[in-house]
Amino acid sequence: MGKLQGKVALVTGSGRGIGRAIALKLASEGARVVVNDLDAEPGDAVAAEIQAMGSDAIAINGSVSEAGFADRFVGAAVEKFGGLDIIVNNAGYTWDSTIQKMTDEQFQAMLDVHLVAPFRILRAAAEPIRIFAKKEAEAGQEVFRKVVNISSIAGLYGNAGQASYSSAKASLVGLTRTLCKEWGRYKVNVNCVAFGLINTRLTQPIEAQQKTIDVAGRDIKVGVQPQMLDAMARMIPLGRGGTPEEAADAVYLFCSPESNYVSGQVLVCGGGLIL
Ligand SMILES: NC(=O)c1ccc[n+]([C@@H]2O[C@H](COP(=O)([O-])OP(=O)(O)OC[C@H]3O[C@@H](n4cnc5c(N)ncnc54)[C@H](O)[C@@H]3O)[C@@H](O)[C@H]2O)c1
Repeated sequence: MGKLQGKVALVTGSGRGIGRAIALKLASEGARVVVNDLDAEPGDAVAAEIQAMGSDAIAINGSVSEAGFADRFVGAAVEKFGGLDIIVNNAGYTWDSTIQKMTDEQFQAMLDVHLVAPFRILRAAAEPIRIFAKKEAEAGQEVFRKVVNISSIAGLYGNAGQASYSSAKASLVGLTRTLCKEWGRYKVNVNCVAFGLINTRLTQPIEAQQKTIDVAGRDIKVGVQPQMLDAMARMIPLGRGGTPEEAADAVYLFCSPESNYVSGQVLVCGGGLIL
C-alpha cells in the first residue's frame, strides 16, 4: 500500500514536464489525481496513463488563469473523489526580456499564472478544507493536508531577464508563508519547492534556432543557450541539471506523512546550487 493511499491530489500543469512527473509519482503512492493542463491533449494523456497504472484520475483542462477555473478544479476533486488532500501549484512558463523590453502584458501574464492562479485555487479550497478539518477535529482525528507551491531559484535570488517571473515566484513564497499561518489550525502543511535547473522544454538547449512554445495561441520563446547550460552545470555541485522525476521526488517529500510537522518552508531542489 502506498503512503498516499486514498488521498486526493490536484496538480496544475501536469500534462508535461515536472507536473506530469509529480502526478505520476503521487499516483504511484496511491493518490487519486486531478490532472490539469492548458493543453487538453497532454492533460488527458496523463490522466489515462494514471488510470492504466490502476489509479483514479480525471483531467480538468484549461488555463489556471481563466476566470472560474479555480472553482471548477477544486469542485471536481470534491465532487468526483469526495476529498481534497494535496494541492500542487505547478503550472507555468517563462516569458523573458530585460526590463526595458518587458511589456505590461508580459509582466502581468507571469503574475497571473505563477501567483494569482495559485491564490485563487487556494482561496477556492479554503471552505472545503475548513469543512473537512472541522469534521475530523470533531471526530478527534488529526488529518494533515498538503499544499506545495512551485517556485524557482529565480524567485529567491533574481535572474537577469526574468523581472516578471522572479517577482511572481518570490511573491509565491509570501503566499506560502501566510497560508502556513492561516491554515495551521486546519492541519495543512503549506510549503514551497524552488527548482534550480530541471531539464524540461523550458530549459532545452537552443540549437540553430530559438525554440518557441505555444501558450494559448502566443508563441513564447523558451530554451537556454548551450554555453549557458554548460556554465550552469559547472556551477551545480552535483554536476548536471535535474530530471523531472528528481524534481517530483522533492515535491513528494512535502506530500508525504514524514513532513507532517514541517510547514512554511522553501526547499531548494537544485543539485546543491546556492547562488
Ligand atoms: N524547468 C526548470 O528548470 C524550472 C526551474 C524553476 C521552476 N520551474 C517551474 O516548474 C513548473 C513546471 O515547469 P516545467 O519546467 O515542467 O515546464 P513544462 O513546460 O515542461 O511544463 C509545464 C506545463 O504547464 C502547462 N501550463 C502552462 N501554463 C499553464 C496555464 N496557464 N494553465 C494550465 N497549465 C499551464 C504547460 O502547458 C505545460 O504542460 C513551472 O512553474 C516553472 O516555472 C521550472
